[in-house]
Amino acid sequence: MGQRKVRRYSLRSLAALETPIVALTAYTAPMARLLDPYCDLLLVGDSVGMVVYGMDSTLAVTPEIMLAHAQAVMRGSQKACVVVDLPFGSYQESPQQAFRVAARLMAESGAGGVKLEGGREMAETIHFLVQRGVPVIGHVGLKPQSVHTHGGFRAVGSNVDEAEQVTNDALAVAEAGASIVLIENTYESLSRAITQKLSVPTIGIGASPMCGGQILVTEDMLGLFGTETPRFVRRFADIKHEIEHAVSTYATAVRARTFPSAAECIGMPKNETI
Ligand code: KIV
Repeated sequence: MGQRKVRRYSLRSLAALETPIVALTAYTAPMARLLDPYCDLLLVGDSVGMVVYGMDSTLAVTPEIMLAHAQAVMRGSQKACVVVDLPFGSYQESPQQAFRVAARLMAESGAGGVKLEGGREMAETIHFLVQRGVPVIGHVGLKPQSVHTHGGFRAVGSNVDEAEQVTNDALAVAEAGASIVLIENTYESLSRAITQKLSVPTIGIGASPMCGGQILVTEDMLGLFGTETPRFVRRFADIKHEIEHAVSTYATAVRARTFPSAAECIGMPKNETI
């Protein structure tokens, strides 16, 4: 008998979960393999541009980059719903442009939906996509692709006007048919109020524990970077120091010619020393 195929979550089935949605970013097959048993949702975020390619922002990320990483994450995962970010410039022009890019990303990777940044101005596009079979996560609050018009990676919703705008964005995105609304870097009370108002789940990053789920950039929560992580990132591990320790131990062993050892070589006498 062949192995039973694991059933993958869809964006719609995530909404029915009775526990908060556990989400992380993933860009590669080996990382997806490690995250998949514990996560409901893996986001192939356009943060790949900054995390993997060392870019200053996400603006230069292309659909081709997203596609390659989405394919890798799909190969490495079995049960998590995989959602791909639509990168900057690939969907803002028209609903038709958004559909072409989303359809290609989904068809060529097998991912279960797309995420796009924007509120009321993207409602028509979200409706167009959903009507044509593309499940969507809407991303409101801090929108990294708008970093230049927004004035940096700052928290959103500090005054009544801004708070009202974020609320209206979230409502418009949900109304347009988004399966989930991701809220980034807003005040706890605002994220909580939005979550209570919406009929679809919210996922927070720097938002509220009352959101329907949480997401973090995996490399941030693993402590793979230096000191420049936002205050909402909790470091669940300190992998950077583990890597530094491993690499410095390796360098010492290579320089001392204690690596490779006899056991790690073919045909080297056991007790031979250099
Ligand atoms: O690209 C990304 O990683 C994101 C985060 C909000 C998770 O959109």
